[in-house]
Amino acid sequence: MTPKDPLLVDCDTGIDDALALLYLLGDPDVDLRAVTAVFGNTDAGTAAENTLRVLELAGRPDIPVAVGARSNWRGTVHLAPHVHGHDGLGGTGLPAPARSPGTEPAAELIVRLARENPGKLHVLAIGPLTNLATALLLEPELPELVGHVTIMGGAVHHPGNVTPAAEANVHNDPEAARMVLRAGWDVTLVPLDVTMNEVLTEQHWHRLRTGGTAIARFAAEILKHYLDVYQRDVFGVRCAACHDPLAAAIAAGDVSPVLAPKVTVDVDTGDGPARGSTIADTRGRHRGFPDQDGARVRVVLQTDGTFADRLVERLGGAADRSLDVA
Ligand code: BDR
Ligand code: CA
Repeated sequence: MTPKDPLLVDCDTGIDDALALLYLLGDPDVDLRAVTAVFGNTDAGTAAENTLRVLELAGRPDIPVAVGARSNWRGTVHLAPHVHGHDGLGGTGLPAPARSPGTEPAAELIVRLARENPGKLHVLAIGPLTNLATALLLEPELPELVGHVTIMGGAVHHPGNVTPAAEANVHNDPEAARMVLRAGWDVTLVPLDVTMNEVLTEQHWHRLRTGGTAIARFAAEILKHYLDVYQRDVFGVRCAACHDPLAAAIAAGDVSPVLAPKVTVDVDTGDGPARGSTIADTRGRHRGFPDQDGARVRVVLQTDGTFADRLVERLGGAADRSLDVA
């Protein structure tokens, strides 16, 4: 996206969603027009409330927030309190937000903003893709109206994080993900292959804790919970993946992927063990990954691994003293 293209974030706020929103709100050139909430890390209503809390913290109570899908297209709901805490924000117990979400449903808001900004709107989807797929059903011209879609989701060569094959956002609604990835618009897909390699550490947490701003302190509080979970369940050491913030930074043009071929991507919607897996055609890997004819999905397969420092700096983390020479 060009810096001033209008942006809509669709999310299931969630710890890393909150960090992603704060990252975007820290850039005066990002024109965030609306946030739509979906079930996922927490229920859709709580995700919307958490979004309102984050917007208030960042001094942006003017940005509209809409509630969207409360379950996937099969009517099932998978939530992740074991990862994001009972309130979606690591049990931080923030006060209730001052405002309520708007009454316009999320999918309708997506369609309206796309119509009002033809060819310009950038949609950053960092939760299950149910809202976006519903918007596609409401407005079949949506792929022509939207400028670009960036998605955090999927696992190409990396194992899944909910099942051996499936990443959470795709796992939560494989039918919706398949529809969005096949819709014929320009998509950048940011899968676990890269988000698991951009990690926040104990040192980043310390920098946030001592950063001195309300945003840095809040980021440190929620990151503490995330580090505990990732240490316990994933890495065995104090590191946490930067899923949604990395997708936000790629959408904003702050991180340039090292490797991101345009290839066809499909989703397994069967009921076997591969349900929710993202199947990207990466057979070009031995020929330097040429873009495939007609493919509209750019799959980010490599970034340089340095994003977490920039995230912490943007969120008001203290300077990294470890680089000082005696
Ligand atoms: C994705 O799932 C959610 O838990 C995170 O917020 C992120 O969007 C990672 O698989
Ligand atoms: Ca998310």
